[in-house]
Amino acid sequence: MRRPLIAGNWKMNMTPDEAKVFIEDFKKQELDSTVEVAVIPPFVDLGIVSREISDTEIKLGAQNMCWEDNGAYTGEISPLMLKEIGVEYVIIGHSERRGYFKEDDGMLNLKMKACERHGLKPILCVGETLEEREMGLTLEKIGRELDEDLKDLSLKELVIAYEPIWAIGTGKNASPDDALYVIEFIRKKVDELLKIGEMVRILYGGSVKADNIKGFMDREGIDGALVGGASLKVNEFTRIVNFKE
Ligand code: G3P
Repeated sequence: MRRPLIAGNWKMNMTPDEAKVFIEDFKKQELDSTVEVAVIPPFVDLGIVSREISDTEIKLGAQNMCWEDNGAYTGEISPLMLKEIGVEYVIIGHSERRGYFKEDDGMLNLKMKACERHGLKPILCVGETLEEREMGLTLEKIGRELDEDLKDLSLKELVIAYEPIWAIGTGKNASPDDALYVIEFIRKKVDELLKIGEMVRILYGGSVKADNIKGFMDREGIDGALVGGASLKVNEFTRIVNFKE
């Protein structure tokens, strides 16, 4: 049985002072211990958040990382640096990085290999645009991303986040059944590529809120959520974590 994972991707929000206030409040909440919880702050908050959650079960993630361990990569963050401050999960290939920062599948595959090299748990993001969806190209697009991003890997621990790009930040989430249909395709594909179809945890992301999380988690096969905007509010993120209530 795969343990559910609810991860909060803060994106480019919360200064270190704001992050400290948020975590001090969040760690006081009663959280369902059967659900794994991760917070994924901006790089500048990782130190303070790591210290604040050190006496809790809350896991720490990073929103990105370099494929190299060190060197002349201005502005980049090394997997070694992330490991030293207690990061366990790393988002790889978020659609905002693929879009705004032109991260291509070759680069993302190198990042996946760096995760494998350092024992970091990747949360690989895949998803289609509205145009691709309307043209019936969803599975073709996601299949291509997985083929390229998971090339030459033998990961034993992997999280995939299915994030339809048209659902991110729009308030228009995919229906749980539509999400499950794509997630079942992803699971088959991961099993073909890495033989870990039963082990891989596949999350849904895209306008997840406290009011709709149950619909996703009621579907056998959806293992959790990657939450953006709703993870910035303690009460709402707590309700999402406690979706079984
Ligand atoms: O990585 C999660 C994010 O892309 C979803 O954002 O604000 O639609 O929950 P949001």
